[in-house]
Amino acid sequence: MPIVTLVGMPGSGKSTVGRQLARRLDWQFADTDAEIERRLGCSIRSYFEQHGEPAFRDVEQAVLADLVESPARVLATGGGIVVREANRTLLATRTQAVYLRSTPEELFRRLRHDTHRPLLQVADPMRRLRDLYRERDPLYRATAQFVIETGRPTVKMLVGMILMQLELAGLVDPAHVPSTIGGPHKQL
Ligand code: S3P
Repeated sequence: MPIVTLVGMPGSGKSTVGRQLARRLDWQFADTDAEIERRLGCSIRSYFEQHGEPAFRDVEQAVLADLVESPARVLATGGGIVVREANRTLLATRTQAVYLRSTPEELFRRLRHDTHRPLLQVADPMRRLRDLYRERDPLYRATAQFVIETGRPTVKMLVGMILMQLELAGLVDPAHVPSTIGGPHKQL
């Protein structure tokens, strides 16, 4: 049984899409950020403020290594998970990673009022998103087996697109995949 991970920039919909995907497949879902906050007993933002980004990345790396051994089969990850090579290797070799690709402009529209993400609490969040995107887009692409454009589709459509990719790759039971031509497949 594969593990499917969602990677991509903050605000690309990894947790929402991941949770819905897990529901469709009847697989367990986990989220690295939620698990990090559970372990730390505080918010990621306050941990960043007190201990800095490298300490956060250490916790994130340990959590990812544990979650790929857990019963969860759909994992949403934090947007910066790919900055460490060890994480990229783990994601690429032990999981089927799906990159939810969104443009910085799209992300900015969704995140402009965000107060939780420490990296975006800056004077010019649009510029920060553009810089992070430039640095990370090649890393997401190098890690993921599948790239899904998040632009217009709804969450339901994105989940359907991922299921179809997974079915084509022989990774999920076709009974979970929506069909546009009717037949034996379940509809979304
Ligand atoms: C981060 C993204 C966040 C969270 C942390 C760092 C990043 O997750 O892990 O604030 O480096 O982009 P989301 O991608 O879920 O926002």
